[in-house]
Amino acid sequence: MSIFARKPMDALMNEASETGSHTLKRTLGAGGLVALGIGAIIGAGLFSITGMAAANHAGPAITISFIVAAFGCLFAGLCYAEFASMIPVAGSAYTYSYATMGEFIAWIIGWDLVLEYAVGAATVGISWSRYLVKFLEGFDIINLPAVGIIVLMSLLLIKGTKESATVNAVIVAIKVTVVLVFIFLGWKYINEANYTPYIPENTGNFGDFGFSGIIRAAAIVFFAYIGFDAVSTAAQETKNPKRNMPIGILGSLLICTILYILFAHVMTGVTSYSSFAGKDGIAPVAVAIDHMGTANAAGIVTPDYPWLNRAIIVAILFGYSSVILVMLMGQSRVFYSMSKDGLIPKVFSAVNPKSQTPAKSNMLFMGFVSLFAAFVPARVVGEMTSIGTLFAFILVCIGVLIMREKMPDAPRAFSTPLVRFVPIA
Ligand code: ALA
Repeated sequence: MSIFARKPMDALMNEASETGSHTLKRTLGAGGLVALGIGAIIGAGLFSITGMAAANHAGPAITISFIVAAFGCLFAGLCYAEFASMIPVAGSAYTYSYATMGEFIAWIIGWDLVLEYAVGAATVGISWSRYLVKFLEGFDIINLPAVGIIVLMSLLLIKGTKESATVNAVIVAIKVTVVLVFIFLGWKYINEANYTPYIPENTGNFGDFGFSGIIRAAAIVFFAYIGFDAVSTAAQETKNPKRNMPIGILGSLLICTILYILFAHVMTGVTSYSSFAGKDGIAPVAVAIDHMGTANAAGIVTPDYPWLNRAIIVAILFGYSSVILVMLMGQSRVFYSMSKDGLIPKVFSAVNPKSQTPAKSNMLFMGFVSLFAAFVPARVVGEMTSIGTLFAFILVCIGVLIMREKMPDAPRAFSTPLVRFVPIA
């Protein structure tokens, strides 16, 4: 068989309808999927990167960068939604590429996805570790916490998908509440002067403020949106995926976009964007919270909500855990599909009959991702995550166009609108 052979739709549909203890179990509904998406999306991107991107590249116009990045993600999200409702199996972009572009491209994208989720989980694990060290100031534990959280989330995944989704929902409720509290409390401290000029003048260097700065910041905050794509890897564990997949993917993306824009608006409104410079190591939002208060005659602000800083760190510690959880889940589901197709060893599609999770695969990834988290610098893994994701998005968008060409009449529960424009855009 040629390495460019495509996987027939019939075979995919048979896989989608498999039942029994040897396969993944359909337990997730629309709400669980939206929560899974938000769980994966809100993380280091919002809490750590927003301030840095505003300070160095976009100023208050970071809100525009978030809108630009959201459009990019929306176009990709629509394509994901079409595929995920059409082919509801676990492999996400890997499976869609196998059906449209053949085995070779699928193999590449499968590995790309697995590495993307590995470096994504590692990046957030490293950042998580920083906050825990901050939280337990004085304890001499560097990077071991990153390994600890990865082990903990892997064990949860092994326990069961439903259990993982429940823990995720609790975490999402905590982090979204803290984000909303920040927005509501911060709103009244917004000082219009901090928005002037809204788009700081370019310094003469491409990407340093001005229009090019907005675009550069959009590329940076793109990381903050990564995660809605991982929802599609849960397609085989979803009840009524035709309806629920598009809701999960697009619903989580929409909710996070609104939260991000409001959050960035408050952050750059309560203090000058320039005060976030050099604060990317530890939450720049702490800088914003320190400015939510009343200034004395000398201009020194006493924060009105000092407890909010601690709440943010708690939200971060919980919140990052769910990002790691969903990335690790996505990774094992892509390998599950690749293994079922015989492209990697069978151990990766072995399902534990009791928990109906790919437990052995989760264990192997636990070791692999822990190594990344323990030894690779955060910046390197962060950039790798964005590039890996972008590559997957491009192939999914091309896949939608190919599928429309080759199988125009195949049933599509959700169709990407303006199909000549959206995937290309
Ligand atoms: N979107 C995820 C985050 O910001 C990867 O942490």
